[in-house]
Amino acid sequence: MEETAYHIPAMLTETIAGLDIKPAGVYVDATFGGGGHSRAIMAKLGEKGRLYSFDQDMDAYENELKDEGEGKRLHGEGERLNGEGGGLHTDARWHFVHSNFRYLPQWMDYYGIEQVDGILADLGVSFHHFDSPERGFSFRFSAPLDMRMNTQQKMTAADVVNSYDEESLARVLYLYGELKNGKALARQICKQRAAAPILRTEQLAEFVKDKKDAAKLFQALRIEVNDEMGALRDLLTGAKELLRPGGRIVILTYHSLEDRLVKNFLRAGNLEGEIEKDFYGNAVTPFKVIEKGLTASEEEVARNPRSRSAKLRVGCKEG
Ligand SMILES: C[S@@+](CC[C@H](N)C(=O)[O-])C[C@H]1O[C@@H](n2cnc3c(N)ncnc32)[C@H](O)[C@@H]1O
Repeated sequence: MEETAYHIPAMLTETIAGLDIKPAGVYVDATFGGGGHSRAIMAKLGEKGRLYSFDQDMDAYENELKDEGEGKRLHGEGERLNGEGGGLHTDARWHFVHSNFRYLPQWMDYYGIEQVDGILADLGVSFHHFDSPERGFSFRFSAPLDMRMNTQQKMTAADVVNSYDEESLARVLYLYGELKNGKALARQICKQRAAAPILRTEQLAEFVKDKKDAAKLFQALRIEVNDEMGALRDLLTGAKELLRPGGRIVILTYHSLEDRLVKNFLRAGNLEGEIEKDFYGNAVTPFKVIEKGLTASEEEVARNPRSRSAKLRVGCKEG
């Protein structure tokens, strides 16, 4: 079988610029995936620099282990991104953390790190998830309804589809899939599952007419199964405490709900998006907003269509 790219990093140049990397700094890539962003960060770090790359999916690390420094593993268009040498796993400055990024502060504590210089999160799933039929993320293949990024987690998409009450299911479809007919869809799903459980991707895809709605339906379930909004809230809260003054937070979002959350957080410094005032009535804003929703260039979208929905936001922690 022809090897396909594990992932093509979105907005690589803009993301690295946003991190404003200091060679001796400590950085976190919360979403390692195919390692494209991590590799580019490492290329800017000196001997004293450190990078902690998180991924809750062990496939990401196993893919990295395949890299013997001979361009064996494909990055994007089959090129290595940072020159020669072995894979990241052979570099003592790099640590892989197999965990949900929501536990970032606990992990930094474990490693004895009080503050970091930059945190990157490139949210959502990788191409590998969409392109691996057995993971159940895609309506393009027939597979069990799974959609777990962390395969050690218990709850699958089949559990959500077959056990949520109609109202909760409708909320998931409406909020996370932006499906205007979420209520009607939830009703149909509940009716159908009363006759027989819905266990496969193709059964679920039958509830919608076109590919666009199928993508939305699958996205909604994926976000719920992996508690993506909850994990992002925890990441933002932890990141605010961990970043040193002048440190950067760089987030790539792929749908409006997560983007709104990040936007409000960077603007106000809290999850509610409400700007607090000090005793004298001055606004207290923990971040200076550096980038307000930059999108991929036309040239990048032509080369990598999946970068179309990416939005980049960058904040700098105030001193
Ligand atoms: C869009 S991909 C990142 C791609 C990466 N920037 C690259 O250059 O290849 C997102 C990755 O983050 C991981 N991920 C998503 N949410 C996570 C979470 N809450 N905790 C840890 N990893 C997560 C996914 O498993 C996936 O591998």
